[in-house]
Amino acid sequence: MNTYELIDRSLQRFSPKEVAQALGVDPKTVRRWQLRETEPKPYIADAIRQRLLPFGDPPSGEGKFRFIDLFAGIGGIRTAFEKQGGRCVFTSEWDPYAVKTYRANFHDGPDHVFASDITKVHEDDVPDHDVLLAGFPCQPFSIAGVSKKNSLGRPHGFSDKTQGTLFFDVSRIIDAKRPRAFLLENVKNLISHDKGRTFSTIIDVLQNELGYHVHYRVINGKHFGPQHRERIIIVGFRDETPFTWDDLELPDLAVSPRMGSVLHKQDGSEGRGHPYIDGPKGKVLDKYTLSDKLWDYLQNYAAKHRDKGNGFGFGLVTSQSTCRTLSARYYKDGSEILVSQGTRKNPRRLTPRECARLMGFDDNFRIPVSDTRAYKQFGNSVVVPVIGEVARIMVPHLIQAPASSSARPARKKAKR
Ligand SMILES: C[S@@+](CC[C@H](N)C(=O)[O-])C[C@H]1O[C@@H](n2cnc3c(N)ncnc32)[C@H](O)[C@@H]1O
Repeated sequence: MNTYELIDRSLQRFSPKEVAQALGVDPKTVRRWQLRETEPKPYIADAIRQRLLPFGDPPSGEGKFRFIDLFAGIGGIRTAFEKQGGRCVFTSEWDPYAVKTYRANFHDGPDHVFASDITKVHEDDVPDHDVLLAGFPCQPFSIAGVSKKNSLGRPHGFSDKTQGTLFFDVSRIIDAKRPRAFLLENVKNLISHDKGRTFSTIIDVLQNELGYHVHYRVINGKHFGPQHRERIIIVGFRDETPFTWDDLELPDLAVSPRMGSVLHKQDGSEGRGHPYIDGPKGKVLDKYTLSDKLWDYLQNYAAKHRDKGNGFGFGLVTSQSTCRTLSARYYKDGSEILVSQGTRKNPRRLTPRECARLMGFDDNFRIPVSDTRAYKQFGNSVVVPVIGEVARIMVPHLIQAPASSSARPARKKAKR
């Protein structure tokens, strides 16, 4: 890649201001390079590779299998399937801030297609693939989403015409492209939403209309990290395979990691120059500590609900705890996961880096967005090692499956 191409590629992921900052030049200079008005100095190519695109060349070759990443968010599901040797050939995500994080972390070649709104993509324009991945939006089905929609008098589930019908975009792509397998992820409440009717429809479409062999299971992220996070994983195979959930290896809950594994160490061992910690010991910045006003409010609110016999309130954790589910609303008051700082200091929120760790992203994962955006993105994402474990048991069946079979098998019952 020549320097101009490197500049163009950087500008697909970062704003001109960010590119300029990283290279120590004026944004106008970047603009002139983009327009080919001036020629960058020779060292610029190297600086771009090191500071903006430190990923090496984009993946080449087919990989063990080809997959598409729908409702990609920040790529949690992709991360897990790439680790199993898959090659992503198509991504769809419409939120520009999620796209920014995604592009900062995944390097794709020119043959990869990035689409925005999936409802606007014709299924014939989706490249051929072996595995379809989709963590389709959960708000129409989640307990919090449903009660909010009810309170606003808005429809939920499939009746929510903007978000509730996205499953049917997934199914039309499966129908047209007939991938060997798919993995869909959603909140546990999908099973019981609308007295089980929503889930029955989904399974019926996958199994009886599309003819896939469907297996589903609720898995708690707590097996792999210190967070209670139950999600339903639905996998389907076009051909009959010996896939079984019995192959899943879920670490024993009694020995699963505690919050200490994600919290900043604050002992100097994390080095300097991180945006969330400061000083020789790497102390978490004061801005993450709750103000007296917010802390008083949360305590009073919890006391009021306790008196009424309700379980609402904040969740206080120490390094020995596990925590509640991180939600996309964490940026609001952080009440579901507050880190105790002893009796003389108010508790604090998790930093975005701690949220990334909680979701199983490693510390190389880049967070190029504001704290508010980062909290939303991690709250919407998956526990990466959960998907990793499911991918591990799925992939052998993809590779062994016969090359092509468009025949739809007879009706089958889904296996839990
Ligand atoms: C539950 S999140 C999925 C998160 C993802 N699994 C991850 O690991 O980050 C659903 C995502 O779907 C995106 N989305 C919702 N409607 C969409 C649409 N019509 N087209 C493309 N993306 C959409 C949202 O912006 C959100 O990032």
